[in-house]
Amino acid sequence: MADPRPTTVRLQKMSWAFTESAVLFAAVQSGFFTAVSKHGESSQAIAEAMGISHANVQRMIVALLTLELIERNGEGFCNATDVERFLVEGERSYAGRWITWFHHQWANWGELGERLQNTAPEQTLGFYNEGFTEAHARRYHAATASVGLGAARKFLAEVDLSGRRKLLDLGGGSGAYSIEAAKKYPDLEAIVLDLPEVVVVSREFISEHGVADRVSAEKCDFTADPFPKGADVILMNSNLPQYSGEVIQQVVQKAYDALLPGGEMHICGEMINEDWHGPLIPAMCAIHGVLFNSTALPHRPSECIGYFETAGFRDVKVREFIPDILQHISGRKPS
Ligand SMILES: C[S@@+](CC[C@H](N)C(=O)[O-])C[C@H]1O[C@@H](n2cnc3c(N)ncnc32)[C@H](O)[C@@H]1O
Repeated sequence: MADPRPTTVRLQKMSWAFTESAVLFAAVQSGFFTAVSKHGESSQAIAEAMGISHANVQRMIVALLTLELIERNGEGFCNATDVERFLVEGERSYAGRWITWFHHQWANWGELGERLQNTAPEQTLGFYNEGFTEAHARRYHAATASVGLGAARKFLAEVDLSGRRKLLDLGGGSGAYSIEAAKKYPDLEAIVLDLPEVVVVSREFISEHGVADRVSAEKCDFTADPFPKGADVILMNSNLPQYSGEVIQQVVQKAYDALLPGGEMHICGEMINEDWHGPLIPAMCAIHGVLFNSTALPHRPSECIGYFETAGFRDVKVREFIPDILQHISGRKPS
């Protein structure tokens, strides 16, 4: 049978896709999911708990049911299981700050079409160059830490760092990976290297977690500054798509040169599939290059293997780390 004639339905739905993000952001920011969790017995009870009109609650309920973020529960409503776990305020697993983080880029994405015409020279640091203040870094890492500490524990369950003594955490941000590594390995020292506005915030997290005796934070632009010597582990997590292959190659080479013989490097980063078809988040991350006039480009696993092998690493492997978001590449410097 011949293919059915195409219609505009798929395109129309995609043109409305921004409304899904808007509804999700609004629900988190207004505490809607918290109200559903605690007062989901009726739409009226949710309206009273939130102090908003019943009509607005009904509008949100229809949207949230449609997005499968809430479900019917008898006469009332309950959150979907992931929403209940991560988007109810006051819970240890609350990740609302991260899930709403990209709301601040809303206006930039609205100008994507115009920005495609940009011919100004690309800036290596992209959005880290301008307007990246200490206050912004504090909000940013309150958000990244809400998912980063869990990711770090997952990483450490998969990677054995027994016997390692000194870890460098390039673009370590909240220090999540260094903090969890120091907690797990009492003989390990770690240095978080990040931009000046961030290290102030990294130090606050490090102190809060009680590991300041072995974890420090130092200013370093990893694209330009030298790395401290003597490390036997180097990490660079969640930074890959913000830079071109050329920049990443230079950073991986610098890391290789700084590592002790026998040392290891790990990058957990957003990689696209070999055929360029997704996944969604890594594909969209590379659009940051247009929005923020940076060198950001997508990277495929085979390209990442190339950066490591060109630098001199052996036993280079790529595996899935966070499905559809982060791949993990590792390599070892020969002894
Ligand atoms: C998405 S966060 C990831 C933080 C941490 N690695 C994690 O996975 O939880 C990226 C961090 O890299 C830092 N960063 C980006 N480019 C950098 C550069 N050129 N030099 C140093 N730090 C950089 C940012 O300031 C930010 O703290």
